[in-house]
Amino acid sequence: MRTGIGRDGKHLFPAFPYTEFTRLTTADIKAIYAYLRTVPAVRVRPRENSFWFRQRWAMGLWNALYFTPGEFVPARGQSAAWNRGNYLVEALAHCAPAIRRGIFCLPNARMPG
Ligand code: HEM
Repeated sequence: MRTGIGRDGKHLFPAFPYTEFTRLTTADIKAIYAYLRTVPAVRVRPRENSFWFRQRWAMGLWNALYFTPGEFVPARGQSAAWNRGNYLVEALAHCAPAIRRGIFCLPNARMPG
């Protein structure tokens, strides 16, 4: 959730939006985990990606260029409501990357204030 590294120690692909979930508070991560533990487990074996889509080593380069890990920091000078909205958009809802990556491939850009 915070580092983009999977359980096996390998890089995850940012199709899983760890680039945004890294901003989540620890309390929210724990709450999501607690909820997921209440959901019945299903057994799924994901299909293996084709050659070009399993080059996880390349994510180290991509992360160095585009990934900034770290919890959300409220903006000083903005209201609590503004910061809550910004947190929801930037961290939990990962709205921003859908727009940035889909159109401009600019994962470091922030939503305009
Ligand atoms: C709060 C919601 C979510 C939680 C708690 C969560 C949790 C996780 C975790 C822990 C992994 C890594 C599993 C491992 O170690 O192998 C993972 C993988 C993944 N997630 Fe989710 N996820 C969430 C939402 C999403 C969303 C919104 C997307 C896509 C829009 C997504 C797409 C993926 C993909 C594609 C992977 C595989 C990444 C890879 O193998 O490189 N997840 N998720």
